[in-house]
Amino acid sequence: MPVTQAHQVAAAKRLENVRYAIRDLACVADEVIKQGHKVLPLNVGDPLNFDFQTPPHIVEAAYKAMRDGKNGYAPSPGIPEALEAIRGEATRKGITSVQDVFVTSGVSETVDLCISALVNPGEDILTPSPDYPLYSAVLCKLGIALNPYDLNEDDAWQPELADIERKRTPRTRAIVLINPNNPTGALCSRQMLEHVAEIARRHNLVVFADEIYDKLILPDSNGDVTPHLAFAAVAPDVPCITFGGMSKNYLVPGWRIGWGIVSGDANAVKPYTEGIHRLLRARLCANHPEQYAIKPALEGPQDHLIEVQRKLRSRCDLTQKWCESAPRVSCVAPRGAFYAFPRIDIPESDEVFVKELIRQKHVMVVHGSGFGQKPGTQHFRIVFLPDERTLNTAYAGIADFIRERYGKA
Ligand SMILES: Cc1ncc(COP(=O)(O)O)c(C=O)c1O
Repeated sequence: MPVTQAHQVAAAKRLENVRYAIRDLACVADEVIKQGHKVLPLNVGDPLNFDFQTPPHIVEAAYKAMRDGKNGYAPSPGIPEALEAIRGEATRKGITSVQDVFVTSGVSETVDLCISALVNPGEDILTPSPDYPLYSAVLCKLGIALNPYDLNEDDAWQPELADIERKRTPRTRAIVLINPNNPTGALCSRQMLEHVAEIARRHNLVVFADEIYDKLILPDSNGDVTPHLAFAAVAPDVPCITFGGMSKNYLVPGWRIGWGIVSGDANAVKPYTEGIHRLLRARLCANHPEQYAIKPALEGPQDHLIEVQRKLRSRCDLTQKWCESAPRVSCVAPRGAFYAFPRIDIPESDEVFVKELIRQKHVMVVHGSGFGQKPGTQHFRIVFLPDERTLNTAYAGIADFIRERYGKA
């Protein structure tokens, strides 16, 4: 007779604080779907769920690589032609002090590798609050205490410099800057980047500049797009890793292709870069055939971006107008990426708000507390990727829900 396993297999205790609210809400949505309802998904930042298509020449490049037999392991740092294309991209971004580049299986892996290669037990890194939850998940996994700094809603969600100074300790090794920002849609000004650089210089901090949305800047009312300003271009002397990737700008999140661009003083970043390469070798390589699409993506036609930016502008305007008219809602206007982070004035937690919204109106957004937004404030994140009709239906549902559950104000 087979012996049965009597004891439950416990997950590691250090995972207790890992939150991934975006996907955790899926359980609530599943209940609703089982009852036969359709859920409007304003929760996941995947453009391919909506009316956005991957540029065909990029698909062709990956397909050709597979047909040409590029299906074995790749070099650990990435294939040479992709590395060269990423260096070219760094130059276009105005980064003059590039010391190294490497390819990863998505910015998710860049984040994991760069934090793992830097932080010792007892040290920490400053992460924004609200944040993109992967950062805190990786830190929990490594057993590193969280050290969040505030983004200031009253200052268009800019990093709060005084809070950064307050939270930094002699054990702080790095600061994360997500620009354009998820979940707020904010963009940092040049002056803000200069201030952060000054703090990094003064305290020997590495800057992790997560710029995965750098080509998704919303056009102004004339349809003009101000190019994104890279942190590393403003502060070439500061040790920095710029995170970039294909998922958002080139509409292939399922391919899992990202990269890191190391910049700063050559001698200063050398040992850290070597540490990163040890981890790159240990995990063998990033996805191989898809790497052949990096050069055609970065150097080929960028026409799709005009269409993407146009759609995002229109959907952002619709979102903004709704926020202005909806009861109990206010919102800082997003300037990049495809997220809005409205504040709601309600007498219960934003987690209850989003769960009940899914159950009653079948609209799925993510609660601000799921992004580590500070207690005592209530927010939710909207992904405004869906077409205008879907957004209008979703927003009518949210407004009805707020009126019915909480009254006008
Ligand atoms: C700020 C930010 N960084 C990193 C990632 C992960 O990107 P990737 O698909 O390249 O792993 C995301 C994905 O949504 C993100 O919003």
